[in-house]
Amino acid sequence: MIDLGEYGARFMKDPYPVYAELRERGPVHWVRMPAPGAYECWLVVGYEEARAALADPRLSKDSTKTGLTSLEDELMGRHVLVTDPPEHTRLRSLVAGAFTMRRVAALRPRVQRITDDLLDAMLPEGRADLVDSFAYPLPITVICELLGVPDIDRAAFRRMSNEIVTPTDGVGEFAAVKELAGYLDELIEDKRCTAPAGDLLGDLIRTRAEDGDRLSRGELRGMAFILLVAGHETTVNLITNGVHTLLAHPGQLAALRSDMTLLDGAVEEVLRFEGPVETATYRYAAEPMEIGGRAIAVGDPVMIGLDAANRDAAHCPDPHRFDIRRTPRSHLAFGHGVHYCLGAPLARLEARVALRSLLERCPDLALDGPPGEPLPGMLMRGVRSLPVRW
Ligand code: HEM
Repeated sequence: MIDLGEYGARFMKDPYPVYAELRERGPVHWVRMPAPGAYECWLVVGYEEARAALADPRLSKDSTKTGLTSLEDELMGRHVLVTDPPEHTRLRSLVAGAFTMRRVAALRPRVQRITDDLLDAMLPEGRADLVDSFAYPLPITVICELLGVPDIDRAAFRRMSNEIVTPTDGVGEFAAVKELAGYLDELIEDKRCTAPAGDLLGDLIRTRAEDGDRLSRGELRGMAFILLVAGHETTVNLITNGVHTLLAHPGQLAALRSDMTLLDGAVEEVLRFEGPVETATYRYAAEPMEIGGRAIAVGDPVMIGLDAANRDAAHCPDPHRFDIRRTPRSHLAFGHGVHYCLGAPLARLEARVALRSLLERCPDLALDGPPGEPLPGMLMRGVRSLPVRW
């Protein structure tokens, strides 16, 4: 067993040398995660094994099948990331239409407008914490508008959501799950009475049996939870990691500034080099199996290291070099298989608009002090704050 906690703060700040060292020894390891979780599980660090595992139906997302359901799972309700087909297929198909490339492309003017308004408010100050002033408000505003909850209490929601996605301890995480479940129930009840047609959550609430399907109360809560939380925590860190990585690589930043046609490639390279989702969410072996030559027993938890896999030299030559001109080779930052990120087109649109607008309006953007602490845990990769000036 490899205790990742023993690598200390160094691992949280820069896990890549540890992942490379593990990969030298093999693509799959039994590890103890760092605190606060400190639980034991398999960790996949090789690209080929990670890609195959993400799409392997023998790895279940449904903990009720393995008897490992936590109280948290029960409180939050059923949603796409805790279900397998066919239940997963049914839930996902209810919202998939709202996130297609075409539907998302139509949101561009609105995303641009929100971005411009945020920059208008931020720029006169001359300096800011990029997370607070820009990277956080943009995706939360977009996803709340899409769902039809524009007047959500952002500060309260951010506190609860942060505690769930990047928990500082188990007690705080459980309290946050409970509070958020109650909060979402209230939100859904409010919308049930008042929602005008046309927004996503309102439409889901109104879906009736005669329309072919109906979501239970728990499923509605689960859907609101996953869309709101997955729809913003990740994108905040894509924007932040993008700006942070570009500022740390001035040659690459200059190349991008002088040729904005490199922008889409730059966003993909940020996703590969410093993807916001460090490990995929838990999977459990539903039958005995082998991954990378290791025997996995029924019920064993498996974590798939997305950021680790994306730096596997067997897949990506010179993987620790940040290079926005790389010929794209499929990275795993949005996962793979049936749980492939539903919001990938939206996340890409937001990141492209955000980076372009920020760089164009701040020609002399620079770091204004050391970045904040790395996010705790191994689910998210990012920093709490990013002081910048212009
Ligand atoms: C940079 C931003 C984002 C990244 C890196 C990201 C990454 C991921 C990854 C890796 C998964 C698969 C997890 C697994 O298999 O365990 C996933 C699933 C998901 N993502 Fe994203 N995501 C991002 C933005 C978004 C946005 C904006 C939404 C908004 C709707 C979203 C909604 C979802 C949903 C609903 C799932 C579950 C899909 C399913 O199980 O069928 N994500 N995301």
